[in-house]
Amino acid sequence: IVAFGPGLEAPSGARVIDAGGQLVMPGGIDPHTHMELPFMGTVASEDFYSGTAAAMAGGTTMIIDFVIPNPGTSLLEAFDQWRGWSAKAASDYSFHVAITWWSDQVREEMGVLTRERGVNSFKHFMAYKGAIMVSDEQLLQSFQRCQELGAVATVHAENGEIVWHLQQELKRQGITGPEGHPLSRPPEVEGEAANRVIKIAQVINTPLYVVHNSCIESLEAITRARLAGQRVFGEVLAGHLLIDDSVYRHPDWGYAAAHVMSPPFRPKEHQEALWRGLQSGNLQTTATDHCCFCADQKAMGRDDFTRIPNGTGGVEDRMAVLWHHGVGSGRLTPSEFVRITSANAAQIFNLYPRKGSVSVGADADLVVWDPEKEKVIRAATQQSAIDYNVFEGQRVKGLPRYTLTRGQVAVNDGKVETREGHGQFVAREPNGSVNRALSSWKALTAPRPVSRSGIPATGV
Ligand code: URP
Ligand code: ZN
Ligand code: ZN
Repeated sequence: IVAFGPGLEAPSGARVIDAGGQLVMPGGIDPHTHMELPFMGTVASEDFYSGTAAAMAGGTTMIIDFVIPNPGTSLLEAFDQWRGWSAKAASDYSFHVAITWWSDQVREEMGVLTRERGVNSFKHFMAYKGAIMVSDEQLLQSFQRCQELGAVATVHAENGEIVWHLQQELKRQGITGPEGHPLSRPPEVEGEAANRVIKIAQVINTPLYVVHNSCIESLEAITRARLAGQRVFGEVLAGHLLIDDSVYRHPDWGYAAAHVMSPPFRPKEHQEALWRGLQSGNLQTTATDHCCFCADQKAMGRDDFTRIPNGTGGVEDRMAVLWHHGVGSGRLTPSEFVRITSANAAQIFNLYPRKGSVSVGADADLVVWDPEKEKVIRAATQQSAIDYNVFEGQRVKGLPRYTLTRGQVAVNDGKVETREGHGQFVAREPNGSVNRALSSWKALTAPRPVSRSGIPATGV
């Protein structure tokens, strides 16, 4: 962005877009996607090109995806592998890297990633036992390292031991269908993990970002910690705000299986609480956890719900459903919409103001938002490479007319004009503002170390 203001002269030959009656906003940032992720014996159907094109069709101009190394393997090799896959992206993107095991090599490679490869956030799965789940000991080691490096620790909070136990118990009782999925992952499982990991982060005194909060229990854990002055951030998915657990009791196995994701969709009262979490600022970001598996892939779990690949879509629809149900209902102001869809993620993950702002010097990742434009969401007409849509049949009012990626028009009045490979990797520096600030008031109020002479040592 070179300039903004009234009465600017467009240079000759420049393309002029008439945004009269519309809102010009920073493009959305989805901080939680999994394009072409190898997971649960298959590979997510949406690749980095189709996924970023779909994102831009919906007004999202940047994604932060996840490098997930297999336990026992090199983080750097996995990072290079994901960079290879992502070269076809149409929009800009960045990567969190998952810590799935622990060793001196992992410790060392976290340093290389942070100092030399533009990674400033690491992800930890407390679920998926026997695959990518980490123990409390591993969380402690990795959080300590994040603290040293000035990186943000992020976490999928579900108690994987309880999930495993309940899965075996349900199958022993003969429950094999998708209805077993939410039964094996009740809200208490998420609440326990959220409380535990928040305490671990407090002990290590490092900021923490909890992904995909789906229930009252984890929202309360985050709210409590924030009230006590701890630097904890919470993300909520568009799906968890709008879809309830009745989907798992649908008589059509394929429909129910399509909604299998973790954490699962919850009873309705959780949705209202999550909206309040956004309104109050206790949840700061919205995402999709876009991780697409088509019907033939979901069918891998025909006889055993624990084998249904976990994941759904949403990257194309997040902005529209949040505008419609958030701004349209009066729950959110347009400025709050910008914060929860873009600016807050940019600030937490140290992309701001290059991303998440309309300011001189920022990348022209913009969306021209038409609050009057309407559509009915349909899998049949979506860009996304997935054969269903969890928001199927919803009429939404408020849609992008134009989406721009670094100044190039990618979506022109509904027509997608994206280019494979236009997207660039965005390196993120460590020691962003959330790492520089105190992570906990404990650090401020802790007794000062006392020297042997009994005189307090200097410094807080
Ligand atoms: O079900 C989900 N969420 N699949 C993707 C992996 C994860 O847990 O984020
Ligand atoms: Zn997750
Ligand atoms: Zn995820």
